[in-house]
Amino acid sequence: MSSNIFFHAGTVTCEERTKLLKQTGATIWFTGLSGSGKSTIAMALEQVLIQRGHLAYTLDGDNVRLGLNAGPKILAETRGYSEEVSKRFGLGFAAADREENVRRIGEVAKLFADAGLFALTSFISPYRKDRDAARKAHEQNKTGAIPFIEVYVNTPIATCQTRDPKGLYKQARAAVEAGKGMGFTGVDDPYEPPANPELTFDATSQATEQGVALVLKYLEEKGLLK
Ligand SMILES: Nc1ncnc2c1ncn2[C@@H]1O[C@H](COP(=O)(O)OP(=O)(O)OP(=O)(O)O)[C@@H](O)[C@H]1O
Ligand SMILES: [Mg+2]
Repeated sequence: MSSNIFFHAGTVTCEERTKLLKQTGATIWFTGLSGSGKSTIAMALEQVLIQRGHLAYTLDGDNVRLGLNAGPKILAETRGYSEEVSKRFGLGFAAADREENVRRIGEVAKLFADAGLFALTSFISPYRKDRDAARKAHEQNKTGAIPFIEVYVNTPIATCQTRDPKGLYKQARAAVEAGKGMGFTGVDDPYEPPANPELTFDATSQATEQGVALVLKYLEEKGLLK
């Protein structure tokens, strides 16, 4: 069946959307350790963009896990999906589920950006191949490549662990010490830094406003803000 699927192009062009929204849609992909400051900068940027009259929307880790990428329990109990659908398509935290989590986010961000929005994503997204696959989805967009801006929130683990607002590092360290482990990024699961990020930001010494300014400057330089 899958070989019988053909892309059906619409008649609205990217130029028409750009003219309407006074911006060219793009995905701004924040990646980094837990506690590195991804959500903080993404939400501040979203606010500034909206205040300046630009349409932006943030897809954030935990929020997406309550809907698009919810687990089987949420799907079955609160949405009423069948057991089969909930089990097959609800996401947990095993390696394949994490991969699928990032894949769906990449595809949704691409659709938002294609619609003309700035899609901001804040997920740890620790594996390079998963982020690169999201980049590829943007590059291979049928009606033309969509800008994919990878922002490496390169805050050292020492800072993240000190801030630890969710207490997750503490929990992960305790799990490792107890000989169980938790598969937590940076503690007992790897984080693969981007090889060629468009932008890099370190929330140890740089204020959120500086990070926002950095991204805005990039968007302006690339002509994405009309
Ligand atoms: N530039 C900054 N300067 C000082 N503190 C910051 C800065 N950015 C973020 N923080 C603080 O660091 C902590 C972690 O930030 P945040 O929740 O945005 O991280 P995250 O990368 O989204 O983590 P997670 O992956 O767990 O969701 C928060 O307490 C936040 O207030
Ligand atoms: Mg976050």
